[in-house]
Amino acid sequence: MLKGRSVLLLVVCVGAGLQVAPAGSRRQTLPVSNEEPIPEVPLRPPNESSIPSGQLGDLIRLGRNIIINTPQYAAPYTGNALTCNDCHLKGGTVALASPLAGVTTLFPAYSARAGRVITIEDRLNECFVRSQNGKPLPDSSRDMIAMIAYMTWLSQGVPEGSTVAGRGLPRLKTPAHVDAKAGARLYAQRCSSCHGAAGQGVPGMFPPLWGPRSANDGAGISKAPKMAAFIKANMPPTAPGSLTVQAAFDVAAFADSHPRPRYNHAYDKF
Ligand code: HEC
Ligand code: HEC
Repeated sequence: MLKGRSVLLLVVCVGAGLQVAPAGSRRQTLPVSNEEPIPEVPLRPPNESSIPSGQLGDLIRLGRNIIINTPQYAAPYTGNALTCNDCHLKGGTVALASPLAGVTTLFPAYSARAGRVITIEDRLNECFVRSQNGKPLPDSSRDMIAMIAYMTWLSQGVPEGSTVAGRGLPRLKTPAHVDAKAGARLYAQRCSSCHGAAGQGVPGMFPPLWGPRSANDGAGISKAPKMAAFIKANMPPTAPGSLTVQAAFDVAAFADSHPRPRYNHAYDKF
């Protein structure tokens, strides 16, 4: 199922591992790859009706279900209320919302966060132990193989060593001054109706942004730069792109000023 892949020494777009320098410094929000840029093709996710029948089709559908409803389909490995789909929008088919199409073509790859070459299984587990505040799945488990089957199906038409346009999140420049108080006002006006006054979300409808059922503090989304990038491109869902970069950073800083679960460093190998 997984075709042979060349080892690319690229910097995987990781979240919290990135040391994003404070406002005003030269570093921007994304890892700086000192390797060749990755070739890109347009993001054209296949139609769901093209999922094959038979055992492979069953596996692809299971993988899709896990990604769309992680707490239900991968309960033993999930430690919060989030589902992959909360950040990898529409089953991982949306540009600038960390699409999962065009990802299987890139691994194994060097990860700056892990300091070693990681597999696609490792990369999925990285999100399980951080964004999902959960536990890693065994590489050979049916659930792991199912998610990879789904992502491989999504990545059809993307050549080995290439990815899709709009991979990851937008690259934003951190503003010189980030104002969490302005972010609090904006949150009350534009976000709390869905995510709740206490960031707790609404079970099964709106994900928590902080607090005990949110991503842990090892997750990329828990840090203002990644969260701001996600918000700028995708929130509020009724008017994505309507916030300024400044507003996205302000509201992310406000969210980031609240407690969330602690990341378990026993999982540093991911
Ligand atoms: C709270 C948000 C969040 C959740 C939930 C989440 N992820 Fe992620 N994921 C991210 C972010 C942020 C990145 C890094 C994106 C970037 O900047 O390139 C990422 C990256 C990835 C990548 C690598 C993408 C690439 O382009 O290299 C994979 C694969 C992935 N996640 C799979 C999953 C799976 C599977 C789940 C569910 C089990 C999941 N993620 C849940 C936020 C999340
Ligand atoms: C109309 C309801 C609604 C509004 C308003 C809204 N969101 Fe969301 N938000 C969602 C939904 C639903 C998701 C899950 C992704 C999806 O399905 O689009 C989400 C996902 C997120 C995530 C990623 C998942 C997580 O839990 O970390 C962040 C961060 C976020 N929203 C921040 C914001 C911010 C900041 C605002 C205000 C500027 C906002 N949202 C406004 C509904 C909303």
